[in-house]
Amino acid sequence: MSEERVQKILARAGIASRRKAEELIREGVVTINGRVAEVGDKADPERDAIKVDGKRIQHNQQHRYLLLNKPKAYMSTVEDPEGRKTVMDLVPAAMRKALVPVGRLDYHTEGLLLLTDDGEFAQRIAHPRYGSTKTYEVKVKGAPTEAQLDRLREGILLDGHRTSPAKITSRGPRKPTGTHRRGEPESDNSWWIVEISEGRTRQVREMFFRIGHPVQKLRRVAIGPLRDARLPVGALRELTEQEVEKLLRSARQPEAKPARKTPPARKKAAAATNAAAKQPAAEKPAPRARKPVSKPARKPPTGVKRAGARKPGARKQPQGRR
Ligand code: URA
Repeated sequence: MSEERVQKILARAGIASRRKAEELIREGVVTINGRVAEVGDKADPERDAIKVDGKRIQHNQQHRYLLLNKPKAYMSTVEDPEGRKTVMDLVPAAMRKALVPVGRLDYHTEGLLLLTDDGEFAQRIAHPRYGSTKTYEVKVKGAPTEAQLDRLREGILLDGHRTSPAKITSRGPRKPTGTHRRGEPESDNSWWIVEISEGRTRQVREMFFRIGHPVQKLRRVAIGPLRDARLPVGALRELTEQEVEKLLRSARQPEAKPARKTPPARKKAAAATNAAAKQPAAEKPAPRARKPVSKPARKPPTGVKRAGARKPGARKQPQGRR
Protein backbone atom coordinates (compact mmCIF):
# COMPACT_ATOMS: atom_id res chain seq x y z
CA MET A 1 0.00 0.00 0.00
CA SER A 2 1.30 3.47 -0.82
CA GLU A 3 1.75 6.36 1.55
CA GLU A 4 -1.18 8.58 2.43
CA ARG A 5 -1.72 11.51 4.71
CA VAL A 6 -2.14 10.32 8.25
CA GLN A 7 -5.45 12.13 8.81
CA LYS A 8 -6.86 10.26 5.82
CA ILE A 9 -5.65 6.93 7.20
CA LEU A 10 -7.18 7.72 10.58
CA ALA A 11 -10.46 8.70 9.00
CA ARG A 12 -10.61 5.51 6.93
CA ALA A 13 -9.76 3.42 9.97
CA GLY A 14 -12.76 4.89 11.72
CA ILE A 15 -10.90 6.95 14.29
CA ALA A 16 -12.41 10.32 13.39
CA SER A 17 -13.43 12.50 10.48
CA ARG A 18 -10.46 14.00 8.64
CA ARG A 19 -10.90 17.31 10.38
CA LYS A 20 -11.03 15.69 13.81
CA ALA A 21 -8.09 13.47 12.88
CA GLU A 22 -6.07 16.61 12.18
CA GLU A 23 -6.99 17.88 15.64
CA LEU A 24 -5.77 14.62 17.16
CA ILE A 25 -2.50 15.00 15.29
CA ARG A 26 -2.14 18.58 16.53
CA GLU A 27 -2.80 17.39 20.07
CA GLY A 28 0.24 15.14 19.70
CA VAL A 29 -1.54 11.87 20.46
CA VAL A 30 -0.76 10.30 17.08
CA THR A 31 2.56 8.57 16.46
CA ILE A 32 4.14 6.96 13.41
CA ASN A 33 6.68 4.29 14.30
CA GLY A 34 7.12 5.88 17.71
CA ARG A 35 7.57 9.45 16.43
CA VAL A 36 4.87 12.06 17.16
CA ALA A 37 3.09 12.78 13.89
CA GLU A 38 2.58 16.24 12.43
CA VAL A 39 -0.26 17.42 10.24
CA GLY A 40 0.69 16.65 6.66
CA ASP A 41 2.82 13.61 7.50
CA LYS A 42 2.35 10.62 5.29
CA ALA A 43 2.55 6.96 6.19
CA ASP A 44 1.83 3.54 4.80
CA PRO A 45 -0.71 1.89 7.08
CA GLU A 46 0.50 -1.59 6.10
CA ARG A 47 4.13 -0.86 6.79
CA ASP A 48 4.05 1.75 9.53
CA ALA A 49 2.83 1.46 13.10
CA ILE A 50 0.35 4.29 13.48
CA LYS A 51 -0.90 4.73 17.00
CA VAL A 52 -3.49 6.94 18.62
CA ASP A 53 -3.04 7.32 22.35
CA GLY A 54 -0.64 4.42 22.22
CA LYS A 55 -3.10 2.11 20.50
CA ARG A 56 -2.22 0.83 17.06
CA ILE A 57 -4.92 1.44 14.50
CA GLN A 58 -6.21 -1.24 12.21
CA HIS A 59 -6.16 0.23 8.78
CA ASN A 60 -8.60 -2.08 7.07
CA GLN A 61 -11.53 -1.72 9.41
CA GLN A 62 -14.47 -1.14 7.20
CA HIS A 63 -18.07 -0.94 8.15
CA ARG A 64 -21.38 -1.00 6.46
CA TYR A 65 -23.76 1.97 6.45
CA LEU A 66 -27.19 1.52 4.93
CA LEU A 67 -30.11 3.84 4.49
CA LEU A 68 -33.55 2.27 4.46
CA ASN A 69 -36.86 3.88 3.70
CA LYS A 70 -38.83 1.96 6.28
CA PRO A 71 -42.39 1.09 5.37
CA LYS A 72 -45.21 1.06 7.90
CA ALA A 73 -45.89 -2.19 9.76
CA TYR A 74 -42.25 -3.14 10.24
CA MET A 75 -40.47 -3.30 13.56
CA SER A 76 -37.22 -1.35 13.59
CA THR A 77 -35.53 -4.11 15.57
CA VAL A 78 -33.33 -7.01 14.62
CA GLU A 79 -35.95 -9.54 15.62
CA ASP A 80 -39.43 -9.54 17.04
CA PRO A 81 -40.61 -12.05 19.64
CA GLU A 82 -44.16 -11.57 18.39
CA GLY A 83 -43.13 -12.65 14.92
CA ARG A 84 -43.87 -9.37 13.15
CA LYS A 85 -41.79 -8.34 10.18
CA THR A 86 -38.68 -6.38 11.05
CA VAL A 87 -36.52 -4.06 8.99
CA MET A 88 -34.01 -6.92 8.72
CA ASP A 89 -36.47 -8.65 6.41
CA LEU A 90 -35.76 -5.83 3.97
CA VAL A 91 -32.01 -6.41 4.03
CA PRO A 92 -30.48 -9.11 1.80
CA ALA A 93 -29.26 -11.98 4.01
CA ALA A 94 -25.66 -11.55 2.85
CA MET A 95 -25.61 -7.98 4.22
CA ARG A 96 -27.18 -8.59 7.61
CA LYS A 97 -24.16 -9.63 9.61
CA ALA A 98 -23.80 -7.55 12.78
CA LEU A 99 -26.13 -4.93 11.35
CA VAL A 100 -28.47 -3.03 13.67
CA PRO A 101 -30.86 -0.12 13.24
CA VAL A 102 -29.59 3.25 14.44
CA GLY A 103 -32.29 4.36 16.86
CA ARG A 104 -35.87 3.47 16.21
CA LEU A 105 -38.98 4.28 14.31
CA ASP A 106 -42.37 3.16 15.56
CA TYR A 107 -44.05 0.21 13.97
CA HIS A 108 -46.45 2.59 12.21
CA THR A 109 -43.88 5.23 11.28
CA GLU A 110 -42.25 5.20 7.90
CA GLY A 111 -39.18 6.94 6.57
CA LEU A 112 -35.44 7.05 6.79
CA LEU A 113 -33.65 4.64 9.07
CA LEU A 114 -29.93 3.96 9.18
CA LEU A 115 -28.53 0.49 9.69
CA THR A 116 -24.90 -0.12 10.51
CA ASP A 117 -22.39 -2.49 12.07
CA ASP A 118 -20.40 0.45 13.43
CA GLY A 119 -21.28 0.90 17.07
CA GLU A 120 -19.56 4.24 17.51
CA PHE A 121 -21.30 5.69 14.51
CA ALA A 122 -24.66 4.41 15.77
CA GLN A 123 -24.03 6.07 19.10
CA ARG A 124 -23.09 9.36 17.48
CA ILE A 125 -26.23 9.56 15.43
CA ALA A 126 -28.73 8.11 17.87
CA HIS A 127 -27.66 9.49 21.23
CA PRO A 128 -29.23 12.87 22.07
CA ARG A 129 -26.00 14.14 23.63
CA TYR A 130 -24.59 14.49 20.12
CA GLY A 131 -27.59 16.57 19.07
CA SER A 132 -28.14 14.97 15.69
CA THR A 133 -31.49 16.28 14.49
CA LYS A 134 -34.25 14.17 13.03
CA THR A 135 -36.90 15.70 10.81
CA TYR A 136 -40.42 14.35 10.44
CA GLU A 137 -43.42 15.09 8.30
CA VAL A 138 -46.46 14.74 10.48
CA LYS A 139 -50.11 14.64 9.59
CA VAL A 140 -52.30 15.39 12.57
CA LYS A 141 -55.99 15.45 13.19
CA GLY A 142 -57.34 18.97 12.97
CA ALA A 143 -55.23 22.09 12.97
CA PRO A 144 -53.33 23.02 16.11
CA THR A 145 -53.25 26.69 17.01
CA GLU A 146 -49.99 28.64 17.11
CA ALA A 147 -50.27 28.74 20.90
CA GLN A 148 -50.50 24.95 21.03
CA LEU A 149 -47.56 24.58 18.66
CA ASP A 150 -45.56 27.02 20.76
CA ARG A 151 -46.06 24.75 23.75
CA LEU A 152 -44.51 21.92 21.78
CA ARG A 153 -41.75 24.15 20.45
CA GLU A 154 -40.78 25.20 23.94
CA GLY A 155 -40.98 21.71 25.38
CA ILE A 156 -43.58 19.79 27.32
CA LEU A 157 -43.32 17.35 30.17
CA LEU A 158 -43.25 13.75 29.01
CA ASP A 159 -42.80 11.12 31.67
CA GLY A 160 -41.51 13.75 34.06
CA HIS A 161 -38.90 15.19 31.68
CA ARG A 162 -39.23 18.26 29.54
CA THR A 163 -38.74 17.72 25.84
CA SER A 164 -35.98 19.78 24.22
CA PRO A 165 -37.00 22.67 22.00
CA ALA A 166 -38.54 21.54 18.73
CA LYS A 167 -38.78 23.32 15.41
CA ILE A 168 -42.28 23.09 13.98
CA THR A 169 -43.32 24.63 10.71
CA SER A 170 -46.23 24.10 8.39
CA ARG A 171 -45.55 21.65 5.58
CA GLY A 172 -47.40 23.89 3.21
CA PRO A 173 -50.69 25.52 2.62
CA ARG A 174 -53.71 23.42 3.35
CA LYS A 175 -55.82 22.41 0.42
CA PRO A 176 -57.88 25.46 -0.50
CA THR A 177 -61.39 25.08 0.76
CA GLY A 178 -63.86 23.95 -1.86
CA THR A 179 -61.40 21.68 -3.67
CA HIS A 180 -62.77 18.53 -2.11
CA ARG A 181 -65.05 16.33 -4.16
CA ARG A 182 -68.78 16.68 -3.71
CA GLY A 183 -70.09 14.37 -1.02
CA GLU A 184 -66.62 13.85 0.44
CA PRO A 185 -66.05 15.37 3.84
CA GLU A 186 -63.47 18.11 3.71
CA SER A 187 -60.26 16.95 5.34
CA ASP A 188 -59.66 18.46 8.75
CA ASN A 189 -56.08 17.25 8.93
CA SER A 190 -52.95 19.35 8.78
CA TRP A 191 -49.34 18.59 7.93
CA TRP A 192 -46.30 19.79 9.86
CA ILE A 193 -42.54 19.55 9.67
CA VAL A 194 -41.09 18.73 13.06
CA GLU A 195 -37.40 18.80 13.84
CA ILE A 196 -36.17 17.35 17.12
CA SER A 197 -32.86 16.17 18.44
CA GLU A 198 -34.07 13.65 20.98
CA GLY A 199 -35.26 10.17 20.29
CA ARG A 200 -37.67 9.59 23.11
CA THR A 201 -40.13 6.79 22.68
CA ARG A 202 -42.97 7.86 20.43
CA GLN A 203 -42.04 11.44 21.06
CA VAL A 204 -43.74 13.13 18.14
CA ARG A 205 -46.93 11.11 18.53
CA GLU A 206 -47.02 11.84 22.22
CA MET A 207 -46.36 15.56 21.77
CA PHE A 208 -49.28 16.10 19.40
CA PHE A 209 -51.51 13.78 21.39
CA ARG A 210 -50.94 16.01 24.42
CA ILE A 211 -52.27 19.06 22.63
CA GLY A 212 -55.32 17.18 21.40
CA HIS A 213 -54.23 16.62 17.79
CA PRO A 214 -53.29 12.96 17.43
CA VAL A 215 -50.89 11.93 14.72
CA GLN A 216 -52.43 10.29 11.70
CA LYS A 217 -49.26 9.75 9.70
CA LEU A 218 -45.61 10.06 10.59
CA ARG A 219 -42.67 9.90 8.24
CA ARG A 220 -39.01 10.64 8.95
CA VAL A 221 -37.59 12.66 6.08
CA ALA A 222 -34.13 13.59 7.35
CA ILE A 223 -31.46 12.38 9.73
CA GLY A 224 -29.20 15.35 10.35
CA PRO A 225 -28.26 16.59 6.87
CA LEU A 226 -29.17 13.29 5.22
CA ARG A 227 -32.27 13.23 3.01
CA ASP A 228 -33.32 11.08 0.12
CA ALA A 229 -36.72 11.86 -1.30
CA ARG A 230 -36.09 9.47 -4.19
CA LEU A 231 -35.51 6.33 -2.16
CA PRO A 232 -38.66 4.26 -2.63
CA VAL A 233 -40.48 3.00 0.46
CA GLY A 234 -39.01 -0.40 1.35
CA ALA A 235 -35.77 0.26 -0.56
CA LEU A 236 -32.27 0.25 0.81
CA ARG A 237 -28.99 1.74 -0.32
CA GLU A 238 -25.42 2.12 0.91
CA LEU A 239 -24.34 5.55 2.12
CA THR A 240 -21.44 7.15 0.31
CA GLU A 241 -18.27 7.99 2.20
CA GLN A 242 -19.18 11.66 1.92
CA GLU A 243 -22.59 11.05 3.47
CA VAL A 244 -21.08 9.17 6.41
CA GLU A 245 -18.60 11.98 6.95
CA LYS A 246 -21.30 14.61 6.68
CA LEU A 247 -23.43 12.81 9.24
CA LEU A 248 -20.54 12.58 11.64
CA ARG A 249 -19.66 16.23 11.15
CA SER A 250 -23.25 17.21 11.87
CA ALA A 251 -23.16 15.44 15.24
CA ARG A 252 -21.68 17.80 17.75
CA GLN A 253 -18.86 16.93 20.09
CA PRO A 254 -20.03 16.09 23.56
CA GLU A 255 -19.35 18.89 25.99
CA ALA A 256 -16.06 18.39 27.77
CA LYS A 257 -16.43 17.57 31.42
CA PRO A 258 -15.16 20.43 33.62
CA ALA A 259 -11.64 19.69 34.79
CA ARG A 260 -11.58 18.49 38.38
CA LYS A 261 -9.54 20.61 40.72
CA THR A 262 -6.79 18.60 42.37
CA PRO A 263 -6.08 19.59 45.97
CA PRO A 264 -2.49 20.90 46.28
CA ALA A 265 -1.37 18.04 48.53
CA ARG A 266 -2.35 15.50 45.95
CA LYS A 267 -1.12 17.40 42.93
CA LYS A 268 2.36 15.87 42.88
CA ALA A 269 1.17 12.32 43.09
CA ALA A 270 -1.44 12.98 40.42
CA ALA A 271 1.16 14.50 38.11
CA ALA A 272 3.40 11.47 38.54
CA THR A 273 0.54 9.11 37.83
CA ASN A 274 -0.43 11.08 34.75
CA ALA A 275 3.10 11.09 33.43
CA ALA A 276 3.38 7.34 33.93
CA ALA A 277 0.17 6.51 32.19
CA LYS A 278 -1.33 9.24 30.05
CA GLN A 279 -5.02 8.53 29.83
CA PRO A 280 -7.05 9.38 26.74
CA ALA A 281 -9.00 12.62 27.15
CA ALA A 282 -12.41 12.06 28.71
CA GLU A 283 -14.33 13.17 25.69
CA LYS A 284 -12.16 12.18 22.74
CA PRO A 285 -13.93 11.84 19.43
CA ALA A 286 -15.34 8.35 19.29
CA PRO A 287 -13.74 5.96 16.81
CA ARG A 288 -15.68 5.32 13.66
CA ALA A 289 -15.22 4.36 10.05
CA ARG A 290 -16.55 5.64 6.81
CA LYS A 291 -16.19 3.36 3.85
CA PRO A 292 -19.41 1.71 2.80
CA VAL A 293 -18.74 -2.01 2.56
CA SER A 294 -17.97 -5.31 3.94
CA LYS A 295 -15.98 -5.84 7.13
CA PRO A 296 -18.01 -6.75 10.19
CA ALA A 297 -17.91 -4.57 13.28
CA ARG A 298 -15.68 -5.48 16.16
CA LYS A 299 -18.30 -5.05 18.81
CA PRO A 300 -22.04 -4.84 18.84
CA PRO A 301 -23.30 -1.30 18.36
CA THR A 302 -24.55 0.42 21.44
CA GLY A 303 -28.18 1.38 21.57
CA VAL A 304 -29.18 -1.83 19.85
CA LYS A 305 -32.88 -1.96 20.18
CA ARG A 306 -34.44 -5.29 20.86
CA ALA A 307 -38.10 -5.74 20.36
CA GLY A 308 -40.29 -5.79 23.39
CA ALA A 309 -37.73 -4.00 25.54
CA ARG A 310 -39.80 -1.39 27.24
CA LYS A 311 -38.43 0.57 30.16
CA PRO A 312 -39.81 -0.65 33.47
CA GLY A 313 -42.78 1.43 34.40
CA ALA A 314 -42.96 3.05 30.97
CA ARG A 315 -46.45 4.18 30.21
CA LYS A 316 -48.34 2.74 27.30
CA GLN A 317 -48.44 5.22 24.45
CA PRO A 318 -51.55 6.52 22.79
CA GLN A 319 -51.40 4.93 19.38
CA GLY A 320 -49.71 2.10 17.52
CA ARG A 321 -46.56 0.38 18.73
CA ARG A 322 -42.88 0.73 18.22
N1 URA B 1 -41.53 10.05 17.13
C1 URA B 1 -42.53 9.17 17.15
O1 URA B 1 -43.55 9.41 17.77
N2 URA B 1 -42.39 8.04 16.45
C2 URA B 1 -41.30 7.74 15.72
O2 URA B 1 -41.23 6.69 15.10
C3 URA B 1 -40.28 8.69 15.72
C4 URA B 1 -40.41 9.84 16.44
